[in-house]
Amino acid sequence: MAKPEIIAGLDMGSGKVTCVLASHDPAAGKVRIISGASVPCKGLKGGVVVSIPETTKAVALAMEEAEEKGGEVIREVLMGVRGTHITTYNNRGAYNIARTDREITADDVASVIESAKAIPMSSDREILHVVPQGFSLDRQKGVPNPVGMEGSLLEVGVHIVTASSSHINNLMRAVSQAGFRVVDTVYSLLALGEVVVSPEEKDLGCLLIDVGDQSVSVGSYYEGSLRFSRELGIGGYHVTRDIAYALHTSMSAAQAIKEKHGAVLSSLVDDEGAISVVGLDGRNKREIKPRELLDYIQPRVEEIYGKVNSALQNCNYAFPGGAVLTGGGSLLRGMPEAAEQMLELQQSRLGLPRPDFIDGPPEYMTHEYTTAAALVCYPFIRSWPGDEGRAGATSGGVFRRVKRLLQNMI
Ligand SMILES: Nc1ncnc2c1ncn2[C@@H]1O[C@H](COP(=O)(O)OP(=O)(O)O)[C@@H](O)[C@H]1O
Ligand SMILES: [Mg+2]
Repeated sequence: MAKPEIIAGLDMGSGKVTCVLASHDPAAGKVRIISGASVPCKGLKGGVVVSIPETTKAVALAMEEAEEKGGEVIREVLMGVRGTHITTYNNRGAYNIARTDREITADDVASVIESAKAIPMSSDREILHVVPQGFSLDRQKGVPNPVGMEGSLLEVGVHIVTASSSHINNLMRAVSQAGFRVVDTVYSLLALGEVVVSPEEKDLGCLLIDVGDQSVSVGSYYEGSLRFSRELGIGGYHVTRDIAYALHTSMSAAQAIKEKHGAVLSSLVDDEGAISVVGLDGRNKREIKPRELLDYIQPRVEEIYGKVNSALQNCNYAFPGGAVLTGGGSLLRGMPEAAEQMLELQQSRLGLPRPDFIDGPPEYMTHEYTTAAALVCYPFIRSWPGDEGRAGATSGGVFRRVKRLLQNMI
C-alpha cells in the first residue's frame, strides 16, 4: 500500500507559529496527527507579517521541530490566516439550467457558486472562500445538495471571505522562503468551525468565538451554515497590556500573571493569597491581591464581548446552541461563563477538535494546537462543495486528492 501523504497545518497567528503534521486515513475517515511544534515569532502581529525574515525563521524552526519529532519530511502546507484585513460578505447567485434533461450536475453547482462571487472588490483584495449557505431549486429553499435533482433555476446563498492580497502574499513569501509550498490558504475560523462545532450546534444556531492575541474571530451559524463572520481588532494582548500598564511591569510578566492568576468574573477570584509582581527593573517586587487583578481584566473582557455583541447586531436569529470558544485568550479563567453572561447565552464551552474527525498523541489534542489541527483536517472534512481556495488551481498532491474526494462526494 502506498505510504499516506503527510501534510502540515500552519497556524500563523500573533507572536507565534504553530504547526502539526498529519495524514488522512480514508478508511477510518480520520486525520491522524503525527507531530507538531509551536515557536515564538516576532515577525507576526495579529495575523499580519511585520518582518519576513523573522517569520521565515519561525516557520522553518517550527516545521523542522515537527519533522524531527515525526520522522517525516514535508514540502506542502495548509496555511491558516486571521486578522482584521479579512472581511466577509453574504451574497446570492443564480444559474439557469438550459439543457433539456435539466438534471443538475456538479458543474452547474460550480457555475452558480461562481455567479455568486460577483461582489465589488478593490484590486488589492482577493476572495479566499465562497461558502454555500444553502441552495434553492425552482424557488424551493433548503436544498442541501442539488446534484442529481431536476430543476431549471438553481440559486445559492453564499458567505464570501476576502483578504488583503499583500498581507496574504507576505505570509506566502515567508512560508516559501522557509522552503515550503502553500497548497491552500484557509481562513482559520472556517477550519475551526468544521472541527470544533457540532452539526447539531450549527443547526440550532450558535457562535464560534476564537480569542486570539490581537484579534477575535466571530462566526455565527444558523440552520447548519455559516451566516456571518467578523474579525475584531482586540484580543488577549489588550488584556495583557492593561495589566502591564496598571502594575508597571513588563508585557511578559503581565502575560505570565494573567495566565496563572487571571480571572474574568468576581465569583472566580480567590480572596486568599497574594500575587507577586516584578517591577520593570526586573527586581523591585511587590504584592497585589487577586481581586485587584480582576479590576484590570474585567473591563477589557467586557469590551471584547461588547464588540462581539455589536458585530452581531444585524444577525436576526438567536443562538440556542450557545458559544464555542477557542484560541489562547479563551483559556483565561471564566471566559466561557462570561460569554454566557455578557452575550446572554444559555450555554458556552471551550472547543477542542472532535474525536470523530481526528486522533493523535494527546499533547496535540490541546487548545494550543486546535487551529493547526483544524487546518490540516479542513480539506478532508469541509462540508460544502465548490470551494477550491486560493491555491487550488496550481496546487499539487493534496488538492488533486481532495478534488477527487469531492467529485466522489457530489
Ligand atoms: N492559560 C491562559 N490564560 C489566559 N490567556 C492565555 C492562556 N494561554 C494563552 N493565553 C493568551 O492567548 C493569547 C494568544 O492566543 P492565540 O490563539 O495563540 O493567538 P493567535 O491566534 O492570535 O495567534 C495571548 O494573549 C495569551 O496571553
Ligand atoms: Mg489562535
